Parts: sequence; C-alpha cells; structure tokens
Amino acid sequence: PEDDNHITPPEECGHIISTLPTIAFLGRFVHHQYQGAWVIHERLPGVLSFQRSFTPRPGDVLLASPPKCGTTWLKALSFAIMARAAYPPTAGDHPLLRLNPHECVPFIDDLFSAGQDAKLEALPSPRLMNTHMHHSLLPASVAVDPNLKVVYICREPKDMLVSMWHFGNTIHPCDFSDMFESVCEGKSPDGPIWDHVLGYWRASKASPERVLFLRYEEMLLNPVESVMKLAGFLGVPFSAVDEVAGLPADIVKLCSIDTMKGLQVNKTGASGLFYKFQHKSYFRKGATGDWVNHMTPEMAQRLDDIFEYKLRGSGLSF
Ligand code: A3P
Repeated sequence: PEDDNHITPPEECGHIISTLPTIAFLGRFVHHQYQGAWVIHERLPGVLSFQRSFTPRPGDVLLASPPKCGTTWLKALSFAIMARAAYPPTAGDHPLLRLNPHECVPFIDDLFSAGQDAKLEALPSPRLMNTHMHHSLLPASVAVDPNLKVVYICREPKDMLVSMWHFGNTIHPCDFSDMFESVCEGKSPDGPIWDHVLGYWRASKASPERVLFLRYEEMLLNPVESVMKLAGFLGVPFSAVDEVAGLPADIVKLCSIDTMKGLQVNKTGASGLFYKFQHKSYFRKGATGDWVNHMTPEMAQRLDDIFEYKLRGSGLSF
C-alpha cells in the first residue's frame, strides 16, 4: 500500500507508549515492546483497549496466530465451518466467494485500535474474531474464560520467515538478510515468535478443551481430518450424514488456496484499517519447505538452533 493509506490511530495511550522500548523494524515500521511482545505502533492502542474493555460472550471463538502462519486459511475454514447451516460450502452465494476471509472475520487488534470495537459488539453470537496478540497479552477474562475458545495456528519458523519476507516486499521492498536478523533477535512483528508459540502451546496443554493448537504443515497434509477436528473443537461437529455427503471435503475445496486465489475479490481487492493490504498478497505458494530457496544452510541452522534452544523442555519442536 501507499503511505496515504496509513491512518494515525488516536494517541490516547501516548503516555504509556512513550515509556516503552521502541524499534523501527526494517528501518521503517515502528514497534513497541509491551509486556514482552513487539507490537506495531498502530496496533498498540488496540491491545491496551482490548485488555481494558473486551467482554467475552459465551460461544466466542478467537483465532490466534503469529503473522504469516496460515491466518487467512484458518479464518476461511473456521468461517465456513461455523456458517455452514446458513451457507453450505457449495452454495453459489457463499460469502467467501465474494469477500476475502479477512473481511469475514474481524481482526480485533486493528478494530480496537481504530476505536471500532462496537462492530464486534454488534455481531451476533457465536462471534468469530482473530488476533496476532501473544497469549500473555490477552486479558484474564479471555485467557481463562471457560466459554471462550481459542484456536491457534503456527508454522515451521523458516517458512514463516520466508512468507513474511514476500508479504513485506508487497508493502516495502526489504533485504532478506535484514529480516532474518530481526527475526533471530526476536525483534519482528508480534515477536519474539518463539514466545508467541510457547504461550499458546502452554495454554493448550493446560486447557486442551479451550485452546486448540494447530500446525500449518499438519493441516496441509491432512486438510479434511483437520477440518473435522476443528469443527469438533468448535462444538459444531459433522454428523455421519455430513461426512458421507462430503461436507468436510467441500469446505476444504472452498477454502483451498487454488479456489481462493482464483476469485475476483482476491485477485483485485484490498482491505485493512491501518494498512490496505492487497488481497492477492495473502495467497502465494501455500506450501512447505520454500525456505530452501532463500536461506543458506548456515542461516537455516542458526534459526533452527535458536528455536531448539528457546523451546527446549516445552515438549514442542519444529
Ligand atoms: P506462503 O507465503 O508460504 O505461500 P497468513 O494468512 O497468516 O498471512 O499466512 C500467509 C501464508 O498462508 C502464505 O504462505 C499463503 O500462501 C498461505 N495461505 C493463504 N491461504 C491459504 C490456503 N487457503 N491454504 C493454504 N495456505 C494458504
């Protein structure tokens, strides 16, 4: 997007922000370190406002992820699963055929930053929303509410980084090695990524009935099984009749990268409150292992070692 798409959020949190450590990611995108997480300047008011004023409702579903780990896909799948009574996945008027998944599921970090949280209030239950916030940033009402479910998706870190670089280039051309260094130092959007992943991993271990931990690679490998697992977790499992009729497979097809990429809305549109992101920039390869085309073996080893060290003892590995 061009700079003129950039809106400055209300500076009501200016005092808090002025006390925080600050970096310019890639020399341009200002981030503040708040409660251990690097949050982009425009979204920090949203984090503060969400912490202060969010009221969970029974049935709420929060989709959480670090950036570039399959958020768009998870949004599409969750939306298609939850809306299937009104919109069967093969319906010619399915909202996902005319809207980008980010327009179907509100991004609360931006919504609260822009002072538009009333839009969330106006949604009928069960509400579906997403965030890039660390688990440690979620207010206690969300972190422990038995009526709110969290679905988390993460991804192999080297592929995440490559995806972030491609996406970043659609906004502002940048050097791969600069981004690599920042991610290794933990100074990246919603970083450190290892802390992001660990927070939700631990929450899912402590409360598996409330927090579902998904991995992008496993979903790519077994999409139909993943959709069935997701529906079961969300409390809307497929019946035997649904399964025989191929409903889970229809949802997988509707939300596949090939279907999504081919839609007019995703070829041409753009959306976002603070930055207008081209819809097409959310759909690239949708595959695993692309890091080999961008990293030297030494870089790969360095990032692997960092994650191995940071995740040691957690039971999680990539
Ligand atoms: P690549 O850049 O590796 O292709 P996010 O949605 O969190 O921004 O993540 C974007 C990544 O998810 C991109 O990865 C993108 O291609 C991939 N992706 C988007 N839609 C997808 C889909 N329907 N199925 C699988 N992967 C998808």
